[in-house]
Amino acid sequence: MKLLLDSAKVDEIRYAIDAWDVDGVTTNPRHVRASGRPLRALLDEIAEAVGGTDKPVSVEVNPHLTDRAEIVRQGRELATISPNFVVKVGVSEVGCAAIRELAGHGIRVNATLIFSVAQAWHAARAGAAYISPFLGWKEQFGDPAAAFLGEVRAMLDQHGYQAEIIAAAVRNAAQMGDAAVAGAHCVTAGIDVYKDSFKHPFTTMGEGIFQNAWDETPGTNASSNGSGAPDTKAAVASAR
Ligand code: E4P
Repeated sequence: MKLLLDSAKVDEIRYAIDAWDVDGVTTNPRHVRASGRPLRALLDEIAEAVGGTDKPVSVEVNPHLTDRAEIVRQGRELATISPNFVVKVGVSEVGCAAIRELAGHGIRVNATLIFSVAQAWHAARAGAAYISPFLGWKEQFGDPAAAFLGEVRAMLDQHGYQAEIIAAAVRNAAQMGDAAVAGAHCVTAGIDVYKDSFKHPFTTMGEGIFQNAWDETPGTNASSNGSGAPDTKAAVASAR
């Protein structure tokens, strides 16, 4: 499963590339607003951050657009900014028509705001390269999301659609695990969600237990605890 960063902050994108070799980035209008940067300048900065890689970056068209020709025009414009850019279009009847046209121009589209298998099917059938079911939003309103993801994956496989699922709006490690088990091709989450997902209280507790055992074992090297302190145990042992 590919790891995508859900953010439009360039410092976060650079961190994720360096620390995790992130597979790509997803943005949305909320992330763009949170970056505090003007849209075009931001897009150029993001394009530069991923330049020379094949990491896809989803960039959303104006969500006010309801006219197919307008969506296609803006999508084509976004795609010219960077070869990494994937055009993000909200799923709807007109959205799917625009997706079909953009795909016909060889532009990769991420169909966003997917909440049903039928919407996922329409988007995949229209030629979307990615489809983004929003797990966090579904679960926030009491809809089970893990089974839904599995159904979307089964639908794609059964009919041979090439679209990749991006498990989106992922809020915690449990949803991340669910996405992997259900067969999502990619997951996208914010930087703090990923940072938390490396951790577990038992891991922290276990590290303490093993560090104590290490320190109480004759012949262990105290400098290997990272403190840089002299190896007193070894010194005492060799003085005897
Ligand atoms: C996905 O591509 C979306 O950008 C994202 O996951 C939406 O979630 P949010 O509620 O975290 O903005």
